[in-house]
Amino acid sequence: MPAKPDRELPVLLREYRPPAWRVDHVDLEFDLGIHRTRVDARLTLRRAGPAGEPLFLDGEGLRLVSIALDGRPLDVTEYRLDEHGLTIAQMPDGAVLHTCVELDPSTNSALQGLYLSGTPEHGFLLTQCEAEGFRRITFFPDRPDVLARYTTTLRADPARFPILLANGNPAGTGLLDDGRLWARWDDPHPKPCYLFALVAGRLEVLERAFVTAEGRAVTLRIYAEADAIDRCGYAMDALERAMRWDEEHYGRCYDLDVFHIVATHDFNMGAMENKGLNIFNAKYLLADPARSTDDDYRHVEAIVAHEYFHNWTGNRVTCRDWFQLSLKEGLTVFREQQFSADMGSHVLKRIEDVQLLRRAQFPEDAGPLAHPVRPDRYSAIDNFYTATVYDKGAELVRMLAGRLGPAGWRRGMDEYFARHDGEAATVEDFLAALGEANEVDLRGYLVWYAQAGTPQLLASGRYDAAHRTYTLELRQHTAPTPGQDVKQPLPVPVRLALLDAGGQPLPLRGASAQAAVSECVVELRDAQAAFTFVDIDRPRAASLLRGFSAPVRVEAGFGADDLAFLVRHESDGFNRWEAAQQLARLAFDRVLAGDLRAAEIGVWVSTVSALLDDNRVEPALLAELLTPPDALELAERCEPFDPAAVYRAREFLEKSLAQVTGARVAARHGQLVEAEQGALDGASQSRRRLAGRCLGLWMRADPTAAAEVAARRAAQAPNMTERLAALTLLAHHGAPQAEAALGDFAARYADDPITLDKWFALQAQIPAEAAVERVAALRADSRFNLRNPNRVYALLRAFAARNLVAFHRPDGAGYALIEDCLVELDAINPTTASRLAATLKDWKRLEPTRRVLLQASVERLAAAATSPDLADILRRTLA
Ligand code: ARG
Ligand code: ZN
Repeated sequence: MPAKPDRELPVLLREYRPPAWRVDHVDLEFDLGIHRTRVDARLTLRRAGPAGEPLFLDGEGLRLVSIALDGRPLDVTEYRLDEHGLTIAQMPDGAVLHTCVELDPSTNSALQGLYLSGTPEHGFLLTQCEAEGFRRITFFPDRPDVLARYTTTLRADPARFPILLANGNPAGTGLLDDGRLWARWDDPHPKPCYLFALVAGRLEVLERAFVTAEGRAVTLRIYAEADAIDRCGYAMDALERAMRWDEEHYGRCYDLDVFHIVATHDFNMGAMENKGLNIFNAKYLLADPARSTDDDYRHVEAIVAHEYFHNWTGNRVTCRDWFQLSLKEGLTVFREQQFSADMGSHVLKRIEDVQLLRRAQFPEDAGPLAHPVRPDRYSAIDNFYTATVYDKGAELVRMLAGRLGPAGWRRGMDEYFARHDGEAATVEDFLAALGEANEVDLRGYLVWYAQAGTPQLLASGRYDAAHRTYTLELRQHTAPTPGQDVKQPLPVPVRLALLDAGGQPLPLRGASAQAAVSECVVELRDAQAAFTFVDIDRPRAASLLRGFSAPVRVEAGFGADDLAFLVRHESDGFNRWEAAQQLARLAFDRVLAGDLRAAEIGVWVSTVSALLDDNRVEPALLAELLTPPDALELAERCEPFDPAAVYRAREFLEKSLAQVTGARVAARHGQLVEAEQGALDGASQSRRRLAGRCLGLWMRADPTAAAEVAARRAAQAPNMTERLAALTLLAHHGAPQAEAALGDFAARYADDPITLDKWFALQAQIPAEAAVERVAALRADSRFNLRNPNRVYALLRAFAARNLVAFHRPDGAGYALIEDCLVELDAINPTTASRLAATLKDWKRLEPTRRVLLQASVERLAAAATSPDLADILRRTLA
């Protein structure tokens, strides 16, 4: 491989080569300023490849001030600089390279590398290096398999930058003769450069002491700007819970004397696990009862835990290359899912995760951007922080954990940490450690990592009364995806029970008769297989894929009556919900086909509405049972895709249910909110979820009466969950009170960007054609700012991804609006632009009128795109 990669070509997994140079130590010194920062880097380099191989260091947008090798300044003929980095042809086998570069953080609108959060007058400096941001800070082999020890010294004006943070443990601070403040940080754990971070500015701090199970005293600190610091308490509690949980469930303790988290309003993604210095999008860190919804609280807890868990899955054991991204992300999402389930409800957490998978990952896997959990090529790595890598990746880990069982999983993870601590690993390493610790061969699961597309699982059962046997036949099929025409069978674990007429599981015995069990897992390994249970009564129904035991689409040919039986009798909470979803899908298909009197619709309505009278059903689960699948899931059932028709058909289901439940949901809503105090315990959150659902149904049954109540709740409810739900219903149903309520909300939360984002997002999703003009007006509003990713996501991505009626307006006005924004955004922030552009991926499935319009937009954009990120998304979208 040439020392310097060719940027025109995609990076290929099969061309991986170990680094030619290792870096043992990195000594960084920063002279920080908003408009000018100077970075001195001393790299202790060691040749790892063949003699004579040049040294190439990545570097982008850096102004080189000086360069010296082993103390000797280099002559301009001794190195070469281009837009991608620095090459030194003649190198000894070991040397210390000193470079000094300058950069301007205030003009870094891409928010990768060193940048400014907030205004030059009041903001602070911070970094984001994953995936390839470190090369915008200094010259370095910017790849995750180069692990080095870092010492970082920061120097700045103490009036402007009283807080100076970097990775690792504090190693001294003081004042220089010129009056500037300095602080040194020493990170004893070797790390890849994507985990580097620094923060400098005027920040307030919340502090707590923690002692690990190993007896290490750790100071936990959360830093935020003055107006936000009093909203960090919940995140601190969540951090402590996550630290304890990782000790108890994985035996993993924290490994530095300090753990720091910093909140910023200017961040491309959710959060970042930099070693000992996590940086968070404030949206996922700040929480307070007056301004945060129950969903917000859950997200804060989940993301604090996710980033903390990375300390072992990601940092102590990192990735060999970016193809292995899911090695850390899928695994860490899975660990967070386990934690969140333990903190709240296992069933509700599983429902939430499967919803996310179906709304974001299944469509991705079915469209032009489909890619394997471990991609084998990329042009712009930032485009692979996807639902597939994260959420399907977590499902693969879940299957592995399920295969090994709790004790085997722990044994396997212990082995993985023991083997690879301090190393950069691969998916193969992971499977080998898990498998060898348990003496099983898990290599069959590699296909799941390598193959894109959601498998279809066809199931059919047969009862043989004469022999008292039940045979389940399973078949699998995966449709082709871009670049993968031929698909292989995958190992598919199917957790199942067979239920009698009362819903009780029948004792299951295999032919090789062991003790009977009430539930078992069969693994389909080939394209098809049959599994026979012996000595069994005739089951009333099969409960398949319990807990969603594999990320597949199941087609079991169940009719509405079978599904209604499962909704009534299934004891597995997840599968009960799943049966209600499937029943709603059958009903939806009939509505979409124009058969408004179809029996399936009536069965769905009567089955789920009956649950309202069953007080054994937990309120939040009841809310989910009463909700048909999201429009993004149903959209897949419409071929060609007519977005307005999908919206109308789903709304028809809602109205049908509302007509039958109107009086009951009105009364139930009244009861639920009567006792409402805004408490955060699980039972209160559960009641609020049902209250929101009841109000939604009531709004369709009796808009006048419901809107009056909604207007009162929007103004006065003692919690944000209800206020926001009520305001959303008013706006989405065009209630006469909507505009006044929107105005009040904006005025009340005018100086709180996170809450104002909710206001932008709910308006972006108003399901009416006129929402295009509203979104255009909001875009022009002085409160909108294309430079702030949260605001872009709140207004523009919510509009493009979720507003079937307005974004897909048949005259193309919605497409034109997004096209226009994307051109401007690409020049500002390519990561944000390409995440917004990913919402255009389904153009090919659209009905012809819209398809022609959206295709033209995508083609114009592809021609105009300047960043490699946006160009890559659009090229694949058009392919
Ligand atoms: N590793 C981060 C996480 O915890 C995501 C950072 C991605 N940022 C980026 N620009 N690609 O999920
Ligand atoms: Zn992560």
